[in-house]
Parts: sequence; structure tokens; C-alpha cells
Amino acid sequence: MVLRFGLRSCLQAAPNRQCGMQRILLAFFSVSFVGDKPVLVRDFIRAALYDPNQGYFSKLSGPVGVLEKSVRFNHFKDRHAYLQYLDKIYKQQDIAWFTPVELFKPWYAHAIAEAILRTTNLSMPLKIYEIGGGSGTCAKCVMDYMMLNAPERVYNNMSYISVEISPSLANKQLETVGEVPRHLDRYKVEHRDALDRSGWRHVDSHPCWVIMLEVLDNLPHDLVFSPDQVSAWMEVWIEKEQGRKFTSIGDL
Ligand SMILES: C[S@@+](CC[C@H](N)C(=O)[O-])C[C@H]1O[C@@H](n2cnc3c(N)ncnc32)[C@H](O)[C@@H]1O
Repeated sequence: MVLRFGLRSCLQAAPNRQCGMQRILLAFFSVSFVGDKPVLVRDFIRAALYDPNQGYFSKLSGPVGVLEKSVRFNHFKDRHAYLQYLDKIYKQQDIAWFTPVELFKPWYAHAIAEAILRTTNLSMPLKIYEIGGGSGTCAKCVMDYMMLNAPERVYNNMSYISVEISPSLANKQLETVGEVPRHLDRYKVEHRDALDRSGWRHVDSHPCWVIMLEVLDNLPHDLVFSPDQVSAWMEVWIEKEQGRKFTSIGDL
């Protein structure tokens, strides 16, 4: 079923008000997770990203672009050459975007690792959680950096735990980190929803690091709207109408 999606800024609670279809966003979806009842934006996002069959992050491949090799920034003559290269790799991979940790690998993750080394209390075992590790690039590059630059005991005693909701990305992460077999003694992937508190079990009072890159905006959230930011704020719902799907707005 192909549906039409629009953001309708019409105030249902104020019928006398000008109620045009301002700001219409159009996109076409083939979805079955919006039923006959309207859903909140948080529920729509959860289904669109994590539905076991149709969710973006449940796909077997492709939700996160991975570069085969690092970009050699010092080889570009100028900005134009860099943009041309980007154009080429986007076309080659047919992917919507590369995240910074992919595009600037290994340097982006190395900078994170160096910041951790400079500020952490190294007398205690280093423990890092990464939520939503994508392809595992950050984990691998942080661990590479620790192996090569931290005092030996820091790398030997460290643990790196990935919390990943997508089964395919959880496997990909193990594969990426496993390119250096030594890392696997210090690394594990917990395939679960980081938002589910029960998954975190007991509180551990020891310090740890939590890395989240490009994840917050993927988490289910609500959308509120006010036409002029002075009138009452309203919440956005998504519903089907006459074969269309659109967001309508009702009073909070
Ligand atoms: C946009 S990708 C970013 C991947 C990687 N951090 C990067 O910067 O390349 C979002 C990642 O977060 C994961 N994710 C999203 N929501 C999650 C949740 N509630 N619990 C655990 N992982 C989640 C996705 O499966 C994916 O690996």
C-alpha cells in the first residue's frame, strides 16, 4: 500500500482559524504499521525504524554506509576535489549518507579515544559502552588506538560493550571489531533496546564511558507544534485519510 505523508499545520481545535495545508512535506511510504487509528510520532518512528519486518534498521544490509577504505584527505587538491570524491562514493554505494565516524575514519574515533585517555582515571579498568554502534567502526578504531597508544595494562584490562537494537548491525559490529582478533577478548555486543531499563540490570557504581554517535535523533520522540510559538502547543499525530497518511494536530 503506498501512502502519502504530509505535515498539516491545520489547527483542528480552532476551526475559525485559517487552516491551510501549510508546510506540506511529501514522501511516499509502503507501510502497514499505521493502522486505522492515529499514532503518535514516537510510535510512528519506532515502527518505521525498528519494525522487525519493515523497519529501516532491521534490514539485512545497508542501513549504515561503510567505506571500504579511509578517505585520504591530504590527497585532495581543494574542496571541490573533496566534494567530487564524496559524490563518487555516494553513487557507488547507493546510500543516503555516511556518518562522521565512517567518513573520517579512523581519525574521528581516534580523537574520541585520545580524549578518553587524557581524562579518564587509568588506575581503574577502562569500561566503555557504545549505544548504537552502527557498523562497529567506532569500536574497532577506539580499540585499535588503545592497543597502540595506551599503556599495555589499559588495553589488556579494558572492556567495550556495544548495545545494539538491530540484529544485522550487531553481527556487522562483531565482524568489524573481529578484524583484529585480540579485540574480541575485550569486546561484546548486547543485542537489545538501550531504552529498555530492564536490560541495564543492576546499577554499577564504577565509572564508565558512554559513546552515542548519531543515535539521539533516531530515538522515538514526539513532535509538538505551535504556528507562532505563542499559541497553544499541539502534538502531532499520524493517521490515514482517504488513502493518504498525514499528520494532524490536536490540542495537548
Ligand atoms: C544512524 S546509526 C549511527 C551508527 C553509528 N553510531 C555511526 O555514527 O555511524 C544509529 C544506530 O543506533 C542504533 N540504535 C537506534 N536506536 C537504538 C536503541 N534504542 N537501542 C540500541 N541501539 C539503537 C541503530 O541500530 C544504529 O546502529
